[in-house]
Amino acid sequence: MKSDNTADKNITWHHHGVDRNDREKLLGHRGATVWLTGLSGSGKSTIADILAEMLQERGVLTSILDGDNIRHGLNSDLGFSPEDRKENIRWIAEVAKLFSSFGVINLLAFISPYREDRDFARSIQNENDFIEVYVEVPLEVAEQRDPKGLYKKARSGEIPSFTGISAPYEAPLSPELVLKTHEFTAEECAEQVLQILQDRSIVPPVG
Ligand code: ADX
Repeated sequence: MKSDNTADKNITWHHHGVDRNDREKLLGHRGATVWLTGLSGSGKSTIADILAEMLQERGVLTSILDGDNIRHGLNSDLGFSPEDRKENIRWIAEVAKLFSSFGVINLLAFISPYREDRDFARSIQNENDFIEVYVEVPLEVAEQRDPKGLYKKARSGEIPSFTGISAPYEAPLSPELVLKTHEFTAEECAEQVLQILQDRSIVPPVG
């Protein structure tokens, strides 16, 4: 939320000597953001983990930003109301923008249920550097997996406003990629993301 401070008037942008190009040259790849969105239990974090390993093996610098972990620290003051989720995504979108400008490939795993919030995350990055990945799974499958036992609690009313049960999930309209984790393995899904990173010349091809 913008306060009434005079930031816009009295703060000017400082251009630093070492810039994004210099850092990307040093690293040998470009900065980018892979935005994994989908229901809890859809497989976002699993895919992010596998991708991180694949990229690490290729000498690519990654970050993993995960809803559960970020909510333990940076965003520990936020809950699950639409306003708090919006703020959660706004923060993390800005963090991803910053990290990409340092040449990092960010792997984000957030439910990010609102189209408007994801569109904001995209709008603040270079078009070519933002890859929205819809990790699509039928609600029944996510609920059956229920890795943290949260769907059960949501059904019994112990957790209010749970995405897919008592809070909405707005599927992406034109994501760069749709990954159906009930039809493909997490490795196959990660390979598809890697392919896009290569096709866009964000990471160099193998060999
Ligand atoms: S988001 O909607 O704001 O993008 P985020 O990805 O940060 O959510 O956090 C989702 C994680 O928080 C879920 O994987 C789940 O473990 C946990 N969680 C706890 N309460 C809820 C809730 N009401 N709705 C969804 N996820 C919840």
